[in-house]
Amino acid sequence: MYTIKKAKQLNKANYLMVLDAPVIAKHCMPGQFIIVKKEENSERIPLTICDYDREEGTITIVFQPVGVSTTKMLSLKEGDAFMDVVGPLGRPSDLTEMPLEELKKMKLLFIAGGVGAAPIYPQVKWLHEQGIDADVINGARTKELVLFEEEMRSVAGNMYITTDDGSYGFKGTGTAMMEELVNNQGKHYDRMIAIGPMIMMKFCVLSAKKLGIPTVVSMNPIMVDGTGMCGACRLTVNGETKFACVDGPEFEGDNLDFDEAMKRARMYKTEEGRAMLALQEGETHHGGCGNC
Ligand code: NAD
Ligand code: FES
Repeated sequence: MYTIKKAKQLNKANYLMVLDAPVIAKHCMPGQFIIVKKEENSERIPLTICDYDREEGTITIVFQPVGVSTTKMLSLKEGDAFMDVVGPLGRPSDLTEMPLEELKKMKLLFIAGGVGAAPIYPQVKWLHEQGIDADVINGARTKELVLFEEEMRSVAGNMYITTDDGSYGFKGTGTAMMEELVNNQGKHYDRMIAIGPMIMMKFCVLSAKKLGIPTVVSMNPIMVDGTGMCGACRLTVNGETKFACVDGPEFEGDNLDFDEAMKRARMYKTEEGRAMLALQEGETHHGGCGNC
């Protein structure tokens, strides 16, 4: 059992939980995720690790109650427990595996879209701990939905808030803010890391391409079982088939087929759609585990 040490509503869309999970807290790295299961027969839900405290033995997750299983998670309060938590899963952000001297020379820009601020925070925090202060664009639809503002400000180099409706910070998307920084404020970046809705990541990549900035995106949104077996998170990157949960979740954005990924994610939601995918993909229609 994994006890919930803190359960808090962050705003009208997002909830935070701190879980007692010492082994995961000891080994996890930014970019990785866990799978939670509320009860014996509950659905398995993949969620990014948004923070960890190795001394306290805790990990933090942020979720939106968008489906049946995440809505059922709202009934869990402090002191309750998840029956099962598996992790850390997926590959850590490749920034954490680069030689530090090389990393220190890079100018990094993160773009968070809505709840995407949660998975971006541990990366920016980890960089700060290594003496590297990255710039962060923290964007949301409206002021109330800006997440992790203070936490992010304390570890970022410069932080730029954007809201689609102009209720706080720059009025417009994170993409428009990036263009403003590069085109009008003389900023230069060696890499842009965007995490948020798929459509946002797609447009961030298109925009960064025009500015000559290589990109990384996180494909968490298309995961289902998170273990390489269901095949839901299949992607095409640089013309090769990849699976977000075992090969990612982070990938270079420049040659990732977002349109295929978004279409596939929509089809995977229905039985009819899954049957059609099986027909279209033939013998290659399976997960990334190699056993199914
Ligand atoms: P949201 O709908 O509030 O959007 C967040 C921001 O994305 C918007 O404020 C907007 O500025 C930007 N955006 C949207 N369309 C854009 C476009 N065409 N061009 C540029 N920017 C655009 O998001 P939310 O409700 O906070 O988050 C929900 C989504 O985030 C879900 O789709 C979920 O799957 C996804 N998500 C992604 C990850 C990940 O790892 N990539 C992790 C968790 C959640
Ligand atoms: Fe099922 Fe990746 S989420 S194969």
